[in-house]
Amino acid sequence: MSRIAYVNGCYLPHGAASVHIEDRGYQFADGVYEVIAVRNGVLIDGNWHMDRLRRSLSELQIRMPMATPALNVVLCETARRNRFRDGIVYLQVSRGVARRDHPFPSADTRPALVVTARRTPPIPAKFVEEGVAVISQPDIRWGRCDIKSISLLPNVLVKQAARVKGAFEAWQVDGDGFVTEGASTNAWIINEEGHLITRPVENTILNGITRRRLIALAKVQGIVVEERRFSLEEAKLAREAFLTSTTAFVLPVVQIDETVLGNGRPGSNTAMLRQIYLDFVAEKALKTG
Ligand code: PDD
Repeated sequence: MSRIAYVNGCYLPHGAASVHIEDRGYQFADGVYEVIAVRNGVLIDGNWHMDRLRRSLSELQIRMPMATPALNVVLCETARRNRFRDGIVYLQVSRGVARRDHPFPSADTRPALVVTARRTPPIPAKFVEEGVAVISQPDIRWGRCDIKSISLLPNVLVKQAARVKGAFEAWQVDGDGFVTEGASTNAWIINEEGHLITRPVENTILNGITRRRLIALAKVQGIVVEERRFSLEEAKLAREAFLTSTTAFVLPVVQIDETVLGNGRPGSNTAMLRQIYLDFVAEKALKTG
């Protein structure tokens, strides 16, 4: 089945879709993106993703490429044309096409919008049942990791380092020894009292939508969430650890570098949190689908 992409106003066969060679996204990584889960044709927490997109764009002084309701239509239509019920939509907005020059181009330069969509295979049962390993890596990224920038080279490098070592993810560590986040996921630990601990939202991490949703869901259950920094050392001593993202949802972490956490099996709290999140997604997919 042929895939369809949306590029600057046109729905095109994926293989024929292209952007201009002087798109500033291509030349300067001057743009932002979102990845949104689609279940039963419904964009999960689509409004929160749109809020974050608007924020990222405004921090970079890039205009929204179109009004939010119209953008929502494009996202759903791209998903629909790719004929899947469960998958992801990817959207990228760059500052647009202009002769290569570092300063912003003239104000009438139109932001460029690309949307792709694809079916995603379910997370392998093995990852959920047995948990995954992460490695630690120095965080060498810039000072505005709160912006969902397409400039992902450091993230790519640490993720590759993880793959080479047979790990699922790399937990990046700041200069003071505190974990920031994964290459494409947020990082969490659970302490002896069953409290969830995750780094507060600041310029050093992305305000993950899954993170934000899980905090809200956990609080409803009366689970204590401590939004504070935790060190790599503390993480290695934690009872349980896990990671969250749009594509992984909630995934148990059972090993950090050479250190096996607890008994090396995913903990019951993490399993419960994953189920709470899955229930939320299933309910959303039914309600508005
Ligand atoms: N990554 N931290 C980073 C650096 C990320 O790139 C992501 C998402 C997250 C989790 O955010 P969310 O819960 O909103 O997906 C945290 C996406 C999935 C990606 O780049 O593919």
